[in-house]
Amino acid sequence: MAKTHSTFFCKNCGVSSAKWVGKCPACGEWNTFMEEVVHKEKEDFKSTWKKEGHIASRKPILINEVEKGNEQRIPLIDQELARVLGGGLVPGSVVLIGGEPGIGKSTLLLQVALQFKDLKVLYISGEESETQIKMRAERIPFANENCFLFTETSTQKIGKAFKELQPDLVVVDSIQTLQSDIIDSTPGSISQIKETASDMIRFAKETGTPVFLIGHITKDGTLAGPKLLEHMVDTVLQFEGDRHHVYRILRSTKNRFGSTNEIGIYEMQQGGLREVSNPSEILISQRDEALSGVSISATLEGMRPLLIETQALVSAAVYGTPQRNSNGYDGKRLNMLLAILEKKCGLRMGMQDVFVNIAGGLRVEDPGIDLSIVASIVSSYENLPIDNKICFVGEIGLSGEIRAVSRIEQRISEAEKLGFKTVYLSKFNKLPKSKSSLRIVEVAKVEEMLQFLFG
Ligand code: TYD
Ligand code: MG
Repeated sequence: MAKTHSTFFCKNCGVSSAKWVGKCPACGEWNTFMEEVVHKEKEDFKSTWKKEGHIASRKPILINEVEKGNEQRIPLIDQELARVLGGGLVPGSVVLIGGEPGIGKSTLLLQVALQFKDLKVLYISGEESETQIKMRAERIPFANENCFLFTETSTQKIGKAFKELQPDLVVVDSIQTLQSDIIDSTPGSISQIKETASDMIRFAKETGTPVFLIGHITKDGTLAGPKLLEHMVDTVLQFEGDRHHVYRILRSTKNRFGSTNEIGIYEMQQGGLREVSNPSEILISQRDEALSGVSISATLEGMRPLLIETQALVSAAVYGTPQRNSNGYDGKRLNMLLAILEKKCGLRMGMQDVFVNIAGGLRVEDPGIDLSIVASIVSSYENLPIDNKICFVGEIGLSGEIRAVSRIEQRISEAEKLGFKTVYLSKFNKLPKSKSSLRIVEVAKVEEMLQFLFG
């Protein structure tokens, strides 16, 4: 029988130790060590897919002698994903995509796999059967005759398939289901994730094949498994959104081959995920009459300007403590804005329940929408509608001053494109002399804006 022994692994950084320790000597975290059984006398992953005698000898090389890679990216049909990755898929790159269950990770990557016409794609699934994947594929309006399915979890068997099939692209759904035969602990444990991820990465780097890994997330929203996993891969993408809304945002939190500022927006439909190339149009609800408690702001998601609708409802509090409820906007910031309205504008917010919502299930962290939130709150409080051709851009400081925001030109031109007539913004935003047809109202204080709006 093979010799077994157990090793302790740090949940945070993945370092191993022969005995349990309270504080990780590598990353300094407390109570992160967990015991796992390991034994190492079986066939390893590398020997399964490597050709014999093909062990490249490496030696140090001068940086000037390194040939400049005319880095050929693999073009993608999916323009949203291409943008997030920095303009196509880099050969040999490993992309980890995380997200809540049911958000659409498997759908997105199956769709990507089916969109390639000429590439041989291997879709490895440890979560669903072939028939389940086939059923999903039938809903998606793309077909790739060179897409192979493999429902296997052992990296040794996957390695054999790599050798036989020589795929051009690999999708692994999900890294938490893979297991390496040389480790006895269960799939999803730290040592298994560490081992199987490094197997996949080794394969990608040595053959130049791009690999997508799907990763589960934990209850608090971080990727399950050791933090090390995120360090090991080239790109980490986050697929987020509200499961009850149709919009999904793909965001990159780490990208060795591009910026992390770009986002991709999708809409989940009956036939898979649809790319949303003009998000502003759908995020603003179509209405003829102006309603109270609603206003529009131009925000930035990554580098993209986006017009969003902020909604507020202010009503007299019936219970002792007034309620403050915020959806898609920071609750602490909402409290701050209410305090400013109370103190600087004399509105009795302390007696009111206040509910704030960003339409479309979006979460916005950009403080540039503060002005619009305040406009919506006061509009609801006074029960006076705001003209739906006005757009608000500005951050509010603690003394009620309206501060400048970044990339104001982009925001204004997006508003102009969508037919807005007026923009309220900070007096301190330096505007280049442009031929914009919009009426620009510069304001310095919240009181001033309210005066302009509601008289
Ligand atoms: P899925 O890709 O299985 O999510 P994940 O892999 O992140 O857990 O997505 C499942 C959801 O997507 C499910 O609730 C059904 C929905 N869906 C559609 O609405 N339309 C479709 O065409 C497909 C394939 C799925
Ligand atoms: Mg899935």
